[in-house]
Amino acid sequence: METQTLIRTDKLGRAKCEHCDVMLEISEFHVFDEIQCPECGKTTTVPGKLGDYYLMRELGRGGMGAVFLARDAHLERKVALKVLNAKFGQDPSFVDALLREAKAAAALNHKNIVHIYSFGQVYDQPYFVMEYVEGIHLDECINANEAQNEEGWLGIMGQVTQGLILAEEVGLIHGDIKPANILLNEQGVAKLSDFGIARFGGDQEDRILGTPLYIAPEKSRGRKFDARSDQFSLGAAFWHLLTGQPPYFGKTSREVVLHRFEIPPPDPRQHAPHLSQATAKMLMRMMAVEPEDRFPNFLAVQERIQKILNRYEEQRREKAKEEREAEKARLAAEEALKRKKRMKKRLGMAACAFGALVALGFVIFR
Ligand SMILES: Nc1ncnc2c1ncn2[C@@H]1O[C@H](COP(=O)(O)OP(=O)(O)OP(=O)(O)O)[C@@H](O)[C@H]1O
Ligand SMILES: [Mg+2]
Repeated sequence: METQTLIRTDKLGRAKCEHCDVMLEISEFHVFDEIQCPECGKTTTVPGKLGDYYLMRELGRGGMGAVFLARDAHLERKVALKVLNAKFGQDPSFVDALLREAKAAAALNHKNIVHIYSFGQVYDQPYFVMEYVEGIHLDECINANEAQNEEGWLGIMGQVTQGLILAEEVGLIHGDIKPANILLNEQGVAKLSDFGIARFGGDQEDRILGTPLYIAPEKSRGRKFDARSDQFSLGAAFWHLLTGQPPYFGKTSREVVLHRFEIPPPDPRQHAPHLSQATAKMLMRMMAVEPEDRFPNFLAVQERIQKILNRYEEQRREKAKEEREAEKARLAAEEALKRKKRMKKRLGMAACAFGALVALGFVIFR
């Protein structure tokens, strides 16, 4: 058994090199040590084994545990493994609830939702096997120093909303929408992760501490929450991404949470004046304190996003049309100028010929 990585994995005697598949003797190394393959000379990682998976490296850590890049021992495909801290595995009723929720999330089949493949538990540690998304998480994109591309972000928000429309249809609530839970792959496809898992992390106090920036007011007060609470979080997350600034402030997490009750939904244009009024208004409506004042559902959010994106498309078409017309006018003016020059030249030549004739006549008839 190996505890080097803070989670418990099985120690392996031999493992394949990641690059050339040759079998290596690894018993004397620790999990995640980097070693050089004597066959291909490339650096390879010493994997740890958890259930039917070889853990290759840690991708990141959150409130509930850590996420690892892993390889399925049978199918040989890459997967992401979210291994929860052992304390979560010690309470069977907690594990049951987690599994029930993950089962429902696993049934969601949408390209904008990270697919859950499987669930298991080893050494008290529950783990989820998920689709591995090679790319970045949006937390890494928060930038207060540059004006953000509104159209680009709306496109990503629209993709996430598409996934949430399906979730809302089947009655599933994410519960912890935040930039760290939105992954963007190399093809620009956005995927919402931790569906049905995230809101189980820690006790209520931990959750508030973990996500004070985006939590819906009704949820922070322990009231009944629904898909409109996810809508609030989505609005707050994209408010942050579009402005580079968190929407609410405070010295403590509690103050940050209370801030949303004290002020009306803040206008993102105070930090990002280039944003359109339509986008600003949409975000502020999503972040209304009362759920009734938000959009009725994610379909309505999606329609609004599409309307704003269509306006962008229209503006682009109009601009292209104007540019085409300006080009046409320029070519016509150029042609007219050339014609004028040709005419002038011909007139000049005719004048010369006439002059020559007059001169000749003068010589002859003199
Ligand atoms: N399916 C995945 N594919 C690739 N990387 C992932 C995947 N899921 C998570 N990650 C990476 O692992 C990191 C940690 O994820 P994790 O869900 O544990 O933490 P978090 O989202 O920051 O917090 P929380 O515990 O509240 O969800 C993420 O930020 C992301 O970089
Ligand atoms: Mg997460």
